[in-house]
Amino acid sequence: MGLQPELVDRFGRSVNYLRISVTDRCDLRCVYCMAEDVKFVPRSQLLTLEEIERIARAFVELGVRKIRITGGEPLTRSNVTHLFRALGAMPSLRELTLTTNGTQLPRYARELREAGVRRINISIDSLDPQRFRAITRTGKLQRTLDGIEAAIDAGFDRIKLNAVVLKNRNHDEVVDLVRFARRRGLDISFIEEMPLGVVVEHDRAEAFYASDEILRDLRRHYQLLPTTENSGGPARYYRFPDSETRVGFISPHSHNFCEQCNRVRLTAEGRLLLCLGQEHSADLRRVVRAHPTDPEPLRQAIIEAMQLKPKGHEFDLRAEPVIFRHMNTTGG
Ligand code: GTP
Ligand code: 5AD
Ligand code: SF4
Repeated sequence: MGLQPELVDRFGRSVNYLRISVTDRCDLRCVYCMAEDVKFVPRSQLLTLEEIERIARAFVELGVRKIRITGGEPLTRSNVTHLFRALGAMPSLRELTLTTNGTQLPRYARELREAGVRRINISIDSLDPQRFRAITRTGKLQRTLDGIEAAIDAGFDRIKLNAVVLKNRNHDEVVDLVRFARRRGLDISFIEEMPLGVVVEHDRAEAFYASDEILRDLRRHYQLLPTTENSGGPARYYRFPDSETRVGFISPHSHNFCEQCNRVRLTAEGRLLLCLGQEHSADLRRVVRAHPTDPEPLRQAIIEAMQLKPKGHEFDLRAEPVIFRHMNTTGG
């Protein structure tokens, strides 16, 4: 037996986590994630589910052990559960997960669980229906709440809520969100907004609310203990002495985590992005379409792409964004 194959970049970081965006479309329009008059990618330019599966398989053969399906909203892609089933059946894949806005979970939660998804992340930024609508531009809070209940009923091992925290929009809800998570035995992560694409509704520097401010607010109500736990993602976790709930902080600005970066992203069009905050990429759609039956060119293209992975992001909330794609094209 040879050595376990491994994808390693120029900085010695092993890549074992692939995030796949299966669509840039979404049934919500969160202000920090997409423009109101967003133009979606024409369907003909999207990878087919079979092409996504081929690319995912190549990554797993090269040592990737965790795949997260993202969007846009992944559950709006038709037949996406076929992809979950195909990925869930790959024996070397240790973890298959999903990040969703929850609206479609009443319909899909059980099927996802049966396909082998054990953990899911659900985005919810506010528990107030009016605020929820303002942040998502179109959303109904109740649908996401129903999605969370459906996920709990489906019996996932762990459910994590994600909240992007913006000053003067929802920063005063962090305690309520934590209370909500604790009551239901869910984890919750608070995220600092990243400057991807132009936003018009708020000034990102003014809306910045640092993870340490959130921690301070929570500590007025709860005892929180730092842990060294790691879910394979960028969050730093804290625990309560009296609950299973973990509170995570994803702090690209205040506690950068690029040095430990272990992941790359595949966009719905088949562009392999080596970093969320940079444009370095490789066109894997071209490779899979040029070589529909031979896996070797795809494998080579993936190995070579690792050389393009940059050291990290250079986000600056005070400057105009330098990355013009919005989060919905990248999948977070
Ligand atoms: P787990 O740790 O597996 O629960 O996942 P996660 O927290 O990495 O994934 P999720 O999809 O829930 O993403 C939460 C937030 O983290 C989103 O805002 C992502 O954009 C952000 N995020 C995830 N990976 C990276 C990364 O490599 N770089 C940056 N800057 N942000 C990331
Ligand atoms: N900055 C930080 N997080 C974002 N998300 C979407 N856009 C941004 C952004 N600009 C979050 C979503 C979801 C996760 C995948 O990424 O709310 O929880
Ligand atoms: Fe990795 Fe780039 Fe995210 Fe930093 S910003 S953790 S290098 S993907």
